[in-house]
Amino acid sequence: MKNLSIVFALSTVFASAVLWAEPVTCLSPDGRAVVTFDLTAVGEPTYSFAFRGETVIAPSKLGFDIKALGADAFDGRKAADLRRDFVLTDVKRATADETWKPVWGEEKEIRDHHNELLVALVQKTTGRRMNVRFRVFDEGLGFRYEFPSEEDKGVARLVPGQQIVPQGQTQPLTHFTIVEERTRFNLPCDPLAWWIPADYETQEYRYTNSKVTEIPSLFKGAPDANLSTTLTPVPCVQTALMLKYPSGLLVNLHEAACVDYATMHLKVDGHDFESYLTPDATGAKGWLQTPCRSPWRTVICGAKGADILSSRLTLNLNEPCALADTSWIHPVKYVGVWWTMITGAKNWAYKPDPTMHAANTTNVIRHLDFAAEHGFDEVLVEGWNIGFEDWFGKEKDAVFDFVTPYPDFDLEGLNAYAKKKGVKLMMYHETSASTRNYERCLDAAYGLMKRLGYDSVKAGYVGNILPHGDHHYSQWSNNHYLYCIKEAAKRQIMVNQHEAVRPTGLCRTWPNLIGNESARGTEYESFGGNNPDHTTILPFTRLIGGPMDYTPGIFEADLSKVCSWKKQFISTTLCGQLALYVTMYSPLQMAADLPENYEKRLDAFQFIKDVPCDWDETRYLEAEIGDYLTIVRKAKGKDEWYMGSKCDENGHKAKITCDFLTSGKTYTATIYADAPEARYGGPTADRYVITKREVTRETVLDLVAQPGGGWAVSFK
Ligand code: NOJ
Ligand code: CA
Repeated sequence: MKNLSIVFALSTVFASAVLWAEPVTCLSPDGRAVVTFDLTAVGEPTYSFAFRGETVIAPSKLGFDIKALGADAFDGRKAADLRRDFVLTDVKRATADETWKPVWGEEKEIRDHHNELLVALVQKTTGRRMNVRFRVFDEGLGFRYEFPSEEDKGVARLVPGQQIVPQGQTQPLTHFTIVEERTRFNLPCDPLAWWIPADYETQEYRYTNSKVTEIPSLFKGAPDANLSTTLTPVPCVQTALMLKYPSGLLVNLHEAACVDYATMHLKVDGHDFESYLTPDATGAKGWLQTPCRSPWRTVICGAKGADILSSRLTLNLNEPCALADTSWIHPVKYVGVWWTMITGAKNWAYKPDPTMHAANTTNVIRHLDFAAEHGFDEVLVEGWNIGFEDWFGKEKDAVFDFVTPYPDFDLEGLNAYAKKKGVKLMMYHETSASTRNYERCLDAAYGLMKRLGYDSVKAGYVGNILPHGDHHYSQWSNNHYLYCIKEAAKRQIMVNQHEAVRPTGLCRTWPNLIGNESARGTEYESFGGNNPDHTTILPFTRLIGGPMDYTPGIFEADLSKVCSWKKQFISTTLCGQLALYVTMYSPLQMAADLPENYEKRLDAFQFIKDVPCDWDETRYLEAEIGDYLTIVRKAKGKDEWYMGSKCDENGHKAKITCDFLTSGKTYTATIYADAPEARYGGPTADRYVITKREVTRETVLDLVAQPGGGWAVSFK
């Protein structure tokens, strides 16, 4: 009773106290994007966002449901939410305009130009502080929550000298769990969405294109969703989510810098969304201690697809590179002992019949010779170490030790041979998703790599996360992935994580994270197929957070030629596969097919050999999500350009003016195009025509991609 009356007295006093004039706005540098912060009559924080005069986010609430920890947890007075009763106590503004150089990337320099607004809030019933930091860019918005340090606990103030809650009665926020983040994304309309269902364990879905309001009824029946037992219990979608408003405006929702925090899904509510974090084994969605902060929630806008693809907002919201020396980090083109296992022809596990075990010494030598002959940096060998024979689906804590080879894999000898050939072996760690086992073994595993000269590792997280009950995208798992990246960086090891969390631009801070899978990759061409438009969607969704190890380059579309019982064709043409080396940006690129499938088509293979995976400049010439995209890039430090175009099942005709080329210079263009009869998914998928011609910046090229196809051009 006594407490209640105190709360009542305080709210009447402070409801009338005008501390800061609301609403508060912040404009982008060009003045055409604007975020507005406001408080409702009951002190609920809200924001809205407009882009070039159009409402992108209508007024939407911000806040959290929380549970205090420690002694606080037993105090019934402690408020369980950070959603209402807030007053605005301070507003700070800043501007940034700086250009930074990524260690690798789509261009050599990136400009970060934004205006910043920090709103400092105090919950007047508790004295708890929560700030929201907004950064407004010409093309979008980022905002994050910040919980300041409570060193000065008990002295939360409205304005100097004016106490909100009397001394001794504040409820400082120190240790707490997140029950749910309650960030709303209220939309002014019912947009079209390119979405995959939210899942605690996987992102390996095909996309659905529907109105937002249709998502709940399609959720469980979405492609591949019937195979999952780990969908979110209520209909949610994964980010990066691509939306198209009825006006044509494109809007991308995602997050940046997800550090020490759970991954956010978006819960569908009519045509609106609300954040829905991934829980851990206890059901908690985060364990925080002040000072702390959330990842950035991001909104990227554009009139054209190219505007979304050219945005660097996600990288700009991440911290600068944390490494003093990055000279050891480099782009990697690789081949590997991989596709025969994915197609089902060979095994990861040791078989006494060496022809059935892909990682046998003879087969690896064959790949090392091939890599050396054709200029590849590395050879990936999966299934080299013991454990695969007693692993999948068995939910064992400790399966792999990451150091003991199978008897037919000559670990030392092959590394010596690779060195002689001027290539490296790429390490493979299947963690069996036993994150604790991997951490226990990490020092020995990385130690072996250092001793033998491996400089990169592909780490996989197949299966349910162990310890049991945890999830792939919980705060704990996210911390694990970053721990491995940091430990690898200490030892100058580059990392490519598969089945790990979807990226949020952390490769800016940790550029040794050269790749992630975290989406449905080429392997699914063997596991039931990808849709022909899949790679026209991924650049707008999965790639917004960082590069993908998509593993393109399948030349033999008829999988029965690789694995006799697999009666299936892949869902692109051969030239469509070539295009992916340009359209799916990654500093790590695999030529995923078998050496013999390249040796039969060395003229087309030349494009994969030539195409770099690090760039000075990139131009998005045309891009319609779900239909087609054409990108041209300038090779790092060279006057050479590479262009790729990928389309969906309908084919695409493009007219490209080569005005990106240096004026007054003539280049030799080598055009790798679908033959007129080339079609995805059938026996003509591998038909192509290669032509060479002299071109200048005045040349206009008419290029045709056949259904499920594409084309690629090198300009030298
Ligand atoms: C799934 C990965 O994506 C794939 O590349 C790998 O070969 C398998 N896991 C084996 O663990
Ligand atoms: Ca389409």
